[in-house]
Amino acid sequence: MPVAPIRLLDLMRQTEDPKVINLAAGIPSSDFLPLDALKSAVEGELASRAREMFSYHRPEGAAKLREAIQGYLAPRGVAVAPSEVLVTTGCTGALATMMSTILKKGDMVVCEAPLYYGQLELLRAIGVKFRTVNTAVGQEPDPTRWEKALKAKPKPKLLLVTSTLSNPSGATLKEEWRPKMVEMCRKMGVPILEDDIYGDLLGRARPKPLRAFDDGSTVLYVTSFSKTVAPGLRIGFALPGKWMDQAADWQCRQTIHGGVPPEYVAGAFLRSGRMESHLEMLQSVYAKRRELALGILSRELPEGFRVEDPKGGYMLWVRGGGAKVMDQVTKQCLDQGVAVVGGGIFFANPPKEACFRLNCARATPEDLARGVGIFCEVLKSVMSRKK
Ligand SMILES: Cc1ncc(COP(=O)(O)O)c(C=O)c1O
Repeated sequence: MPVAPIRLLDLMRQTEDPKVINLAAGIPSSDFLPLDALKSAVEGELASRAREMFSYHRPEGAAKLREAIQGYLAPRGVAVAPSEVLVTTGCTGALATMMSTILKKGDMVVCEAPLYYGQLELLRAIGVKFRTVNTAVGQEPDPTRWEKALKAKPKPKLLLVTSTLSNPSGATLKEEWRPKMVEMCRKMGVPILEDDIYGDLLGRARPKPLRAFDDGSTVLYVTSFSKTVAPGLRIGFALPGKWMDQAADWQCRQTIHGGVPPEYVAGAFLRSGRMESHLEMLQSVYAKRRELALGILSRELPEGFRVEDPKGGYMLWVRGGGAKVMDQVTKQCLDQGVAVVGGGIFFANPPKEACFRLNCARATPEDLARGVGIFCEVLKSVMSRKK
């Protein structure tokens, strides 16, 4: 019987257990929320725009937020008008809207192996087929590997990629490859669904999004402020490009529109000018957390296991050994009060080697060190029994 959480729902529920050191769910820590700036945004918006805040509004999203998103994207190399922005309920809402607009049952999708579990669940619910391209930090697929997958028959309907600090692998597509990939997909008539939710956690080294090399005819861009500002806002957005009308229509049928108060608050936060200093703070805390965990892993991982520094974000991806040990390791870790996620759930087709994703953001540094230590001990003991 599988013991690891098998649905996103289970992973999210597990995060509420205070007795567990949670290195499993991919959620950031609430210790680093920009609370002062968010409180000022709430108060300011309530004082000046309360009537609009609590009324129905345009299904594509509040004009003030769409303008603020235009300003947020410009220094990231993406030039769009507010009318090109579709506000969504988190990045999940943006992914669901764009996937439902483009795909139907039986379509072929080219995607990463591994890929974010939520993307996989959404695609499985539609009933698509998968063609995967292996990716890992230091082994990012170059455009020729993507090209091979795109050229195989049957022709894919979509290429899905988390372009920077992909979850769970941590891989980032090199900037020099990005225009080539966009050009290749444009020529082949295959749209790219680019998830950029972690892009801002890479700091100054972050490459421009794929969307920066497109005019909206090939790249559908999605992201949210869940990993950077506040997941509870549930504010994400899509740049659906030429699919704008279809995407807005689909979303309007599902929800009419999202909650207006968070849209106003997110808009005010973006206009406050505090985003960039907040991101710098996050980058520096997460770098320290990764360093702490990587130090322990480099000393304590059993032979044959490895982990690379993704140079940003808060997730580490440990690989090695045979895939069969994953359930045993996650179960034994949980018995000792540490939740880690077995990497099998991140693959459209079962992986050959064992892999685990460790979230370094949520636990305190003390708990993180303890949790990673226990994980290594369990892994060593399970592997030594295999010999
Ligand atoms: C790649 C990726 N996309 C989307 C999401 C979901 O984002 P949101 O909470 O904004 O819906 C996550 C969350 O872990 C993610 O890792």
